[in-house]
Amino acid sequence: MSIYQEKVLPYLVDLVCSSKSASKQRKKVVPYAEGEVLEVGVGSGLNFPFYDVQKITKIWALEPSKGMQVLAKKAPRDPCLNIEFITLSSEELPFDEASIDTIVITYVLCTIPDVRIALQQMFKVLKPGGKLLFSEHGRAPDANIKFLQNLVNPFWRRVAGGCNLNRHIPNLLKEAGFILQKDERMYLPGFRFFSYNYWGTAVKS
Ligand SMILES: C[S@@+](CC[C@H](N)C(=O)[O-])C[C@H]1O[C@@H](n2cnc3c(N)ncnc32)[C@H](O)[C@@H]1O
Repeated sequence: MSIYQEKVLPYLVDLVCSSKSASKQRKKVVPYAEGEVLEVGVGSGLNFPFYDVQKITKIWALEPSKGMQVLAKKAPRDPCLNIEFITLSSEELPFDEASIDTIVITYVLCTIPDVRIALQQMFKVLKPGGKLLFSEHGRAPDANIKFLQNLVNPFWRRVAGGCNLNRHIPNLLKEAGFILQKDERMYLPGFRFFSYNYWGTAVKS
């Protein structure tokens, strides 16, 4: 990894992801996590304050970037949360099949290079009946915004740590075998090409 990726990008990502509107979204999904939880791409640990400690036995905090982990390890959280960091990518999840109760993903599917493989892995390690809680930005419904997203994406991806603007989150989840139990969508405040948000609950039946 370059110095930019390890030393500069984590602070930029933390800044962008700490917005008020993103925090509101986190609050809508993260408190529903229960049991043994896998959070994929924890970044700077911005979800940690939203976990309901009474419902959690353990959080596996998967994050490939050591630079992001430095910030996540200092993030505010309830001291009773049992968090263990794993320095791996989601395309290679080191868990037994059907062993995880809840998967949490926020603003991470945009960045995972092989997102289809990663979602297949998540589907595999989730227990039948388990939940995947998500809040993600992605492809906008309006033709002009979609056009702009596709136009800007190659440049954006290079400066924003591999983030893609135009992924259709519910379709990716369904392709991987998940059933969408709650599927909400709307523009958050801010630039429209970046702010179309999908959130909800996907289950493995
Ligand atoms: C935009 S940040 C979001 C961080 C955090 N989930 C949040 O909501 O603030 C995307 C994160 O995905 C991580 N990431 C990139 N590639 C990944 C992969 N293949 N598997 C898992 N995480 C990845 C990045 O290192 C980064 O921390």
